[in-house]
Amino acid sequence: MRYTGLIENYRDRLPVDDSTRIISLGEGNTPLIRLENIPATLGKDVDIYIKYEGLNPTGSFKDRGMTLAVTKAVESGSKAIICASTGNTSASAAAYAARAGIKAFVLIPEGKIALGKLAQAMIHGAVIIQIKGNFDDGMRLVKEVADHAPVSIVNSINPYRLQGQKTAAFEIIEELGDAPDYHCLPVGNAGNISAHWMGYKEYHEDGKAAKTPKMVGYQAAGSAPFVKGEMIDEPETIATAIRIGHPQNWDLAHTVEKESNGWFDALTDEEILAVQKLLTEKEGIFCEPASAISLAGAMRDIKSGKIAEGSTIVCTLTGHGLKDPDTAIAQCKDAMITINPVMDEVREAILNNM
Ligand code: F0G
Repeated sequence: MRYTGLIENYRDRLPVDDSTRIISLGEGNTPLIRLENIPATLGKDVDIYIKYEGLNPTGSFKDRGMTLAVTKAVESGSKAIICASTGNTSASAAAYAARAGIKAFVLIPEGKIALGKLAQAMIHGAVIIQIKGNFDDGMRLVKEVADHAPVSIVNSINPYRLQGQKTAAFEIIEELGDAPDYHCLPVGNAGNISAHWMGYKEYHEDGKAAKTPKMVGYQAAGSAPFVKGEMIDEPETIATAIRIGHPQNWDLAHTVEKESNGWFDALTDEEILAVQKLLTEKEGIFCEPASAISLAGAMRDIKSGKIAEGSTIVCTLTGHGLKDPDTAIAQCKDAMITINPVMDEVREAILNNM
């Protein structure tokens, strides 16, 4: 049967009915890839799977939530959506609004969003409002303006976003036959970790999984309010997607931590970039920096024994590497050889680099 997106696929578990006009780009159904080379380097017996959410239509997990948020906005008669974004939400909102034939307004922090994401929001025709401030300023403004203008908020404070995103947990359980022991994710606003936990709990309660995983959330060291235990006013990290100091789902995420027996931890930008590169070189999988933090954290916790040997671990790669070409290229400055157009020089380049 033709796959037509996650709302159709999980219709009975999502708040739609037969008359709902579904706004979909075929999101969801992303690959769960078993790592073949990296686990052996850890000296521990573990099974690591990557949930490659970068393969959603706009290149990030946001599409799972956006399909439902925009579907419901349109159903309620809304003619415009609005979001604050570090980039991916704006790209997704712009695309789904285009599909629906409504307007998207996106508030982004000036100079702090990756090139690919900006290109996406622009080409889909969103109205882009740059703020001389950070994501948290944008979020505050979006909440304020929504009371004064006819726009629906599609950030993860919109409950439909989380409902859509919970389907990633369903897919994982269906493929593995059960929940993993640990599920590791990057954390910004903590919408996605909360959504996954909803999905795992729902399938467990319905007998589709024998267990639920420990949920582990990783943050960039300069933007780690959950690790510090308090909000941060000037978040900083190269992983701009998660450059957030005032997470919107603060209470939800703490409930997830407690209920799942999980934890939060932080990694430096250097640790994040090293694992982003390792994953591309050892497994052929390219993700953006924020996404690499899930595997970087898992690897560290596997090595230390905090994640138990014999475990099955799923790491979500939230966004595609092509989102942020600048950061990728900056890591590979010496990766090019320039030659004259003669065979001898090509051969030499090959033999010198075998
Ligand atoms: N990874 C990527 C690639 C993201 O873009 C985001 C959030 C996260 C992880 C964190 O997810 O907020 O649910 O904890 N990006 C938002 C945006 C903030 O505007 O695109 P979270």
